[in-house]
Amino acid sequence: MKVLSPSILSADFWRLGEQIREIEDAGVKYLHIDVMDGIFVPSISYGMPLIASIRRHTNMFFDVHLMIDEPERYIEEFAKSGADMINFHIEAARDVQRTIDKIRMTGKKAGITIKPDTPVSELEPYIDKVDMVLVMTVEPGFSGQRLIPECFDKLREVSRMVKDRGLSTDIEADGGINLDNVESVIAAGANVIVAGSSVFKGDITVRIKEFISKMQ
Ligand code: DX5
Ligand code: ZN
Repeated sequence: MKVLSPSILSADFWRLGEQIREIEDAGVKYLHIDVMDGIFVPSISYGMPLIASIRRHTNMFFDVHLMIDEPERYIEEFAKSGADMINFHIEAARDVQRTIDKIRMTGKKAGITIKPDTPVSELEPYIDKVDMVLVMTVEPGFSGQRLIPECFDKLREVSRMVKDRGLSTDIEADGGINLDNVESVIAAGANVIVAGSSVFKGDITVRIKEFISKMQ
């Protein structure tokens, strides 16, 4: 199943509710929520109160991307606030297996994320234990960056790893994805597409329709 997961990091927070409603009305089921702590990545975004607040108004699937150090400390809180999928960075976790177990204990879906410089081989011990692998196609921390072309190989490698093991793990790509490169990102193996600035800069409904038609 191919899915678009618009990242609200690029939203106009004054009109956040309105913009989420517009995304939902355009037929999108996923919402990508980037949590940054200013330690694992240079910037700070938002956290549990924002997620809990929007959770009260929509049944969309909350695809939460934790860019925080030692994510195991906050799994329960993110689950309680309304996350459906909790993605954490393999580079940020003290104990990757324990972090996956903690997510499982909450009943939420679990995802592992790798930065552009992290070898795909690091996923090997965990690939059959998660619902999703998130491959960063930019350095995490900011929206509006250019996709790093070397990440196409990485997506192909993850896709091969998933196929070789007979798994059906989702592969999400995040960063610098736009209407010109989304088809190549899908061809490289991604089936969950994050798009921030390319959805929010312009008419959201029109952008989403264009993305969806390119993702068929
Ligand atoms: C970056 C975030 C992304 C970001 C993507 O660290 O993980 O989800 O919002 O934004 P664009 O699509 O503008 O690169
Ligand atoms: Zn993200």
